[in-house]
Amino acid sequence: MTPPRTPKIPYGGDYNPEQWPQEVWDEDHRLFTRAGIDTLTVGVFSWSLTQPAEDTYDFTVLDRVLDRAAAEGRQVCLATGTAALPPWLAKKYPEVNRTDFEGRRHRYGQRHNFCPSSPAYRRLSTSLAARLAERYADHPALLAWHINNEYGGTCYCELCADAFRSWLRERYATLDALNDAWYTTFWSHRYTDWDEIEPPNALTEHWRGPDHTAFQGTTLDYFRFTTDALLGCFLAEKEVIRAHDQDTPVTTNFMGMFRPLDYHRWAPHLDFASWDSYPPLDAPPTWPALAHDLMRGLKDGAPFWLMEQTPSTTACRDVNPLRRPGELRLATFQAVAHGADAALYFQMRASRGACEKYIGAVIGHAGRDDTRVFREVTDLGRELELLGSATLGARTPARTALLFDWDSWWALEISDGPSRPVRYQDTVHAYYRAAREAGADVDVIPQTADLTPYDVVLAPVLHMVKGDLAARLETVAARGGTVLSTFLSGRVDEHDLAFLTDVPGPLAPLMGIRVDEWDSRPQDVVQPVELGESSYSARLVFEIVQPRGAEPVGTYGADFYAGTPAVTRNRFGEGEGWYVATALDQPGVDQVVREILARHDLIGPYSDHPTVESATRVAPDGTRLLFLLNHAPEPARLTAHATATDLLTGKRVDQGEPLTLDPLGTVILRFQ
Ligand code: GLA
Ligand code: ZN
Repeated sequence: MTPPRTPKIPYGGDYNPEQWPQEVWDEDHRLFTRAGIDTLTVGVFSWSLTQPAEDTYDFTVLDRVLDRAAAEGRQVCLATGTAALPPWLAKKYPEVNRTDFEGRRHRYGQRHNFCPSSPAYRRLSTSLAARLAERYADHPALLAWHINNEYGGTCYCELCADAFRSWLRERYATLDALNDAWYTTFWSHRYTDWDEIEPPNALTEHWRGPDHTAFQGTTLDYFRFTTDALLGCFLAEKEVIRAHDQDTPVTTNFMGMFRPLDYHRWAPHLDFASWDSYPPLDAPPTWPALAHDLMRGLKDGAPFWLMEQTPSTTACRDVNPLRRPGELRLATFQAVAHGADAALYFQMRASRGACEKYIGAVIGHAGRDDTRVFREVTDLGRELELLGSATLGARTPARTALLFDWDSWWALEISDGPSRPVRYQDTVHAYYRAAREAGADVDVIPQTADLTPYDVVLAPVLHMVKGDLAARLETVAARGGTVLSTFLSGRVDEHDLAFLTDVPGPLAPLMGIRVDEWDSRPQDVVQPVELGESSYSARLVFEIVQPRGAEPVGTYGADFYAGTPAVTRNRFGEGEGWYVATALDQPGVDQVVREILARHDLIGPYSDHPTVESATRVAPDGTRLLFLLNHAPEPARLTAHATATDLLTGKRVDQGEPLTLDPLGTVILRFQ
């Protein structure tokens, strides 16, 4: 399945009219029409309203919300509303409240905090979802189902402990297998009964928080178990929805690069992917781009929905900068450029009270339609209307892939040694950024994905190597492709057990190297690396590489390993395996990645313009669209590399003619 079929990009967002009297709804719809809003995500937090007591359901308000939307010609993404518990439920069934990492059973409060193993939660959430599906399956406004909201978090209660033990029995079948996988002869941990196994937390294997564990294998399995436990909640709701509604696509809103849940394990169960984009302060544009591409990679390159973004400002951070004029439009077209087939906000009208009252909204507390934000939302609404179906269903024709692996992320960051400051996302982002800024389209894919479409496969910090991945990477190189990996790759198997071979383990033949030692230094220690004509800086980890067939491309400049290789290239079949043995600075990573891309003719035509992002989508009818996004507050002056028409203005530009992008401007060039 793909996202719901629509004639244009669905535009709108989270709408909670249950918070206001009916007169406000009239005003909302008047303003929605003005702004070109056609899609409303409703019911996300209305459980206590829809089910005020265990035996009482009341659909009066939701009926009105959906009927009104339909009457106004708007479509609805209907949430099951199971992410925030009603107080009666937590009081009556205290088991639904989570037990935290410190072992404290919580009491009623907040949201996103139900125990995934609680039978009461499972029973009540599915009966609510079933009733909603029964009631609204054929409603004319229904466009998509939105199960729960931003699944996440971990519970360590007795129910979860039991569920973890069952999950382990399923995975390992015997205690011997589990003892081997967890390496329990270390520190006298050999288990003789499944009931001896405890969830890993502050009371058991951990110290200094969730990343410091005595047994990585145990903690990794708890991450995997939590992923599956929450997925079980999603699947249970989806199943009851499907019993009443066989067709309407089902999703749940993800959070991009969200460490606690391995979204690749969820992906097959979603009809389409959707996510909420709130990039960190000061993130370069490639940060949200990486998250978009990761979300597109969940469903094998199919378009996803941008389920939430703020039209103006967040409120959850200590400081919450405003989106500057033009930034909302740019972020929205960036999402579309990377595969978004919907552009939705959190939120349509600002809450009056509680912790989200200062989160930006299309309509603020004063209800005005003459604010800058409302105007920008309206202008964008008009542009999306003009764009119509042009981008819908379009796919990214990437020949470069970046492997993203939650297991490697977890294993790297819960490891004692070599280096805590090495962060998975930072390293992955550095390589992604280098490829994107060189103008390459990049698919961000799971390690199980088919690698045959790619000329270049980037596999930075691939700490854990599972299954036949090493062989598949060798196949890429053997047929002429290039595979890149980095320091701290090829270290452990799926149980976090070190390979009993030379580092980088199963990647060693492809890389043509052997690593016996590595030096981990504080952030402020800089090691010069000579690469080509230039010198770059490297930090954090310096692996000492012995070439075994590979040739040095870059060398360390200092310390007792001065003159030894820091970057190597190994001929393998028709192609190459590249290894970067240290955390190079961004210019160094750029240099390496550009050299690789150039070998495959994958450097884009605008790669000399550092502020201009380019991204390609190919529409179902074969039309090729090139998005050019200017991330600078000044105009960008380019020369058109081919004759094309800008979909947003209808203007034609001939090859070789000047092509100027406005400050923060976007053009969508159509070639044919
Ligand atoms: C998240 C949630 C929303 C809301 C917004 C606020 O993405 O899904 O319910 O809390 O953040 O920015
Ligand atoms: Zn629990």
